[in-house]
Amino acid sequence: MTTHFFTASSLDGFIATSEHSLDWLLKQDIDPEGPMAYQGFEKTIGALAMGASTYEWVMRHEEGRWGYTQPAWVFTHRDLEVPDGADIRLTRADIAEVHAEMVEAAGDKDLWVIGGGDLAGQFADAGLLDEVWVQYAPVTLGSGAPLLPRELDLELLDVARNRSFLCGRYRVLRA
Ligand SMILES: NC(=O)c1ccc[n+]([C@@H]2O[C@H](COP(=O)([O-])OP(=O)(O)OC[C@H]3O[C@@H](n4cnc5c(N)ncnc54)[C@H](OP(=O)(O)O)[C@@H]3O)[C@@H](O)[C@H]2O)c1
Repeated sequence: MTTHFFTASSLDGFIATSEHSLDWLLKQDIDPEGPMAYQGFEKTIGALAMGASTYEWVMRHEEGRWGYTQPAWVFTHRDLEVPDGADIRLTRADIAEVHAEMVEAAGDKDLWVIGGGDLAGQFADAGLLDEVWVQYAPVTLGSGAPLLPRELDLELLDVARNRSFLCGRYRVLRA
């Protein structure tokens, strides 16, 4: 079982603008079934985690519909609205505790920390982040939500080009 942080980023290391816009990303060309793309990756995933801003972006973007089929943990200190029937738990519990619940729920599949970058960092702080996958878009933003605001050593496992994107898959190295 592997815990992944799979995300797209600007070349200068931001995953959203300061206003939480992803317009710079959604206009890029990608083959969704191509190398290191979402469709193949998502099939390997049995449980999801995300922070409140990411959850709110998904709900805005999908106009209140919840598209994920896997059980999801949303980290927040607020009582956010959850769509009827969606398999979502709002949590402010300890990362290790949530990770254990996710492992239990995922069966023989992997875990995906969707974002943001600091939440992925919290999993890394707890020694519970195994891989980082980044699709680099050909754009710089200058500022915004950081990709992974921690000091980590990573080993490059694989690279690919998917149309406009330079894709990298890395293993998080631990002491
Ligand atoms: N480029 C991509 O592929 C990609 C991927 C993922 C996300 N994104 C975007 O990146 C941006 C990320 O936003 P962000 O940096 O603000 O990160 P975020 O993780 O989405 O949201 C941060 C919020 O999550 C809650 N939170 C985080 N850790 C917590 C913990 N341990 N316990 C309880 N609550 C916790 C807090 O919200 P409360 O105030 O509710 O407590 C915190 O303010 C979003 O705009 C998202 O849409 C882009």
